[in-house]
Amino acid sequence: MAPYWNPYDKAITANPYPTYRQLRDDAPVYCNEELGVWALSRYEDVLAAHLDAVTFSSAHGVTIEGHDAGAPFLIAKDPPEHTWHRKIVSRVFTPRRISDLEGFIRHRAAELLDRNLVDGRIDVVEDFSIRLPLDVISELVGIPEEHREAIHHHSDLVAEAMGAADAEQTAIELEGMRAILRSLVVDRRAHPGDDVISLLIETPVVDDDGNETYLDDDELSFRFIELAFAGHETVAKLIANAVVGLAWYPDQRRELVADPGLLAGAVEEMLRWDPPSHYQGRWTTRSVELHGVTIPEDVRIVLITGAAGHDDRQFPEPELFDIHRRVDRHVSFGFGVHLCLGAALARLETRIAFEELLRRLPDYELEEDGIVRAYSSNVRGLQHLPIHAVASVARV
Ligand code: HEM
Repeated sequence: MAPYWNPYDKAITANPYPTYRQLRDDAPVYCNEELGVWALSRYEDVLAAHLDAVTFSSAHGVTIEGHDAGAPFLIAKDPPEHTWHRKIVSRVFTPRRISDLEGFIRHRAAELLDRNLVDGRIDVVEDFSIRLPLDVISELVGIPEEHREAIHHHSDLVAEAMGAADAEQTAIELEGMRAILRSLVVDRRAHPGDDVISLLIETPVVDDDGNETYLDDDELSFRFIELAFAGHETVAKLIANAVVGLAWYPDQRRELVADPGLLAGAVEEMLRWDPPSHYQGRWTTRSVELHGVTIPEDVRIVLITGAAGHDDRQFPEPELFDIHRRVDRHVSFGFGVHLCLGAALARLETRIAFEELLRRLPDYELEEDGIVRAYSSNVRGLQHLPIHAVASVARV
């Protein structure tokens, strides 16, 4: 039977990996003609496309629908505009700035767990993983504590409105977030500090024509929205996907409890095994011959990251979760010019999240009845993931 892949099909999204295998083996260059979307699924092909940003353009949007085309986000731009834009945003992600966040991340993770872990039970997403990354981005950018609840509120409503494809409500909630950011920009212009907003205010921008200018208040407020879009749901969903992984592989969970030093390697496997971002949308700027098929010029094509990470040509026995696997060059953070700018931060957050979670809940079970999957064509993960502690065998 010929493979069938459709990113809107809930049965496929619930467990896409068997479909991905069929695509890699039988249709490595696939076209869903109904949707007008092409797809690449083999590791080598996805990697090569990431590395060829000229042929595989991001400027028509990187979602499957392409509704982000023209958005003022780095991720949806091609060089040369992408190059100078990335140079500015990169200034936020110095190794020092990221490592300085470790104390805050640990404190916030502990606070959330201690508050929400009641009688050994917690909803990993609602009470923990969805809360942590947005607060970390707020801390990174320098958003004061008193605004963080409002940021969460708008962000929740943006997610809800986007889920319902309500463009008007999405714009209203985004505007609510931007209003907070704009007021902070005005304040930092008057009282510069040692924070990211002040840094971006002072950073000259040299555009494609060599002109030097500075970001205006709107552009500055968008830099926060950009990070919130890229680094909130992704980290939240990675943590929850991996909590499921460690429930399915309790021996490995016990190893991590006994030796948290193994977590750094385990995070790479979490990223490979069930990443939060499965699809990177592109647009072809010329026709491409691959595996005997011609992909035409000017079509939407999706690089299926989730499928690439399960390609047995690159990762032996890919369906197995193995914290000792030496994950060589996974593509879960993309590759090439758009390689995730928040990768180091995401790794740090995930490692600390598990250090703090496993310290409090070394032995847990999933509450299968309460698990709710979020269906979105662009991120894969859960909306609710209740778990509870189980008495260890030694204690029974
Ligand atoms: C587990 C968590 C994360 C995953 C799996 C992830 C994944 C990705 C991927 C696949 C891309 C490339 C997209 C493309 O090629 O079209 C990307 C880009 C990006 N990510 Fe992440 N990301 C994560 C966390 C974060 C965080 C925490 C931040 C910042 C706070 C962040 C900021 C960015 C930015 C700014 C880009 C755009 C880079 C560019 O276009 O040059 N990400 N991410």
